[in-house]
Amino acid sequence: MKTHLSGQRVLIVGAGGGIGRATAEAFRAAGAYVVATGRDTTKLEGVGSEIATLDFLDNDAVEAFFADTAPFDHVVVTAAATKSGPVGGLALDAAKASMESKFWGAYRIARAAKINEGGSLTFVSGFLSHRPSPMSVLQGAINAALDALARGLALEKAPVRVNTVSPGLIDTPLWSGMVAIDREGMFERTAAKLPARRVGQPEDIADAILFVATNRFATGSTVTVDGGGTIA
Ligand SMILES: NC(=O)c1ccc[n+]([C@@H]2O[C@H](COP(=O)([O-])OP(=O)(O)OC[C@H]3O[C@@H](n4cnc5c(N)ncnc54)[C@H](OP(=O)(O)O)[C@@H]3O)[C@@H](O)[C@H]2O)c1
Repeated sequence: MKTHLSGQRVLIVGAGGGIGRATAEAFRAAGAYVVATGRDTTKLEGVGSEIATLDFLDNDAVEAFFADTAPFDHVVVTAAATKSGPVGGLALDAAKASMESKFWGAYRIARAAKINEGGSLTFVSGFLSHRPSPMSVLQGAINAALDALARGLALEKAPVRVNTVSPGLIDTPLWSGMVAIDREGMFERTAAKLPARRVGQPEDIADAILFVATNRFATGSTVTVDGGGTIA
């Protein structure tokens, strides 16, 4: 069933990424007016109804953005730039920069966003919060912090609803830094272990984001969409 969002304004922060782009497309297909934002506007061509530059590391820019624009019905934060690695092997500055991006970026958006009553705010976290990996301990901690932030904000911002979608391994440009053959091997090995027998596609996560954003009874929820990664 297609949700009809005609006349609703939706903001995607990080719309040039794999999950952000698919989410912008899902909201557009449901009839919403989508403002697609990111740092690099060349990645935003053809995404959404309107594109704008928004760096969620820059609090002044975030506040100015919301001051200059009409309130939104739904705000989705999919942006993040994080470094991975074991705690003992990752430089402290890189670890702090990761938290500064994914957690504090979402926090800045949550502080400044103007969202209409009946609307929603959705973060994207990740299944490592529940299924830690020794090579990505920090990622799990950041994701858990985001899930907890959303639960608290669901109380603070009520009746605006606040939720998190928590993906497993998704085939997006996030992995483009890997050599292609290594990436494909990693995807194949992961797919073989997962109960779903495949890695995720950005549209799998966009579906879940559209669901929590539009289901009027969903708030304070974390929806895990991980192919069974948490239980495998
Ligand atoms: N892919 C996975 O396997 C996976 C698994 C679990 C969780 N997740 C989470 O899902 C979310 C989306 O991931 P993805 O796979 O779609 O990643 P992606 O394709 O790398 O996209 C991330 C986007 O974030 C934007 N971004 C980074 N820093 C920004 C900033 N300071 N201000 C504004 N935008 C910024 C980037 O745009 P610019 O280049 O314009 O900066 C990029 O387009 C992330 O939080 C990620 O951690 C992904």
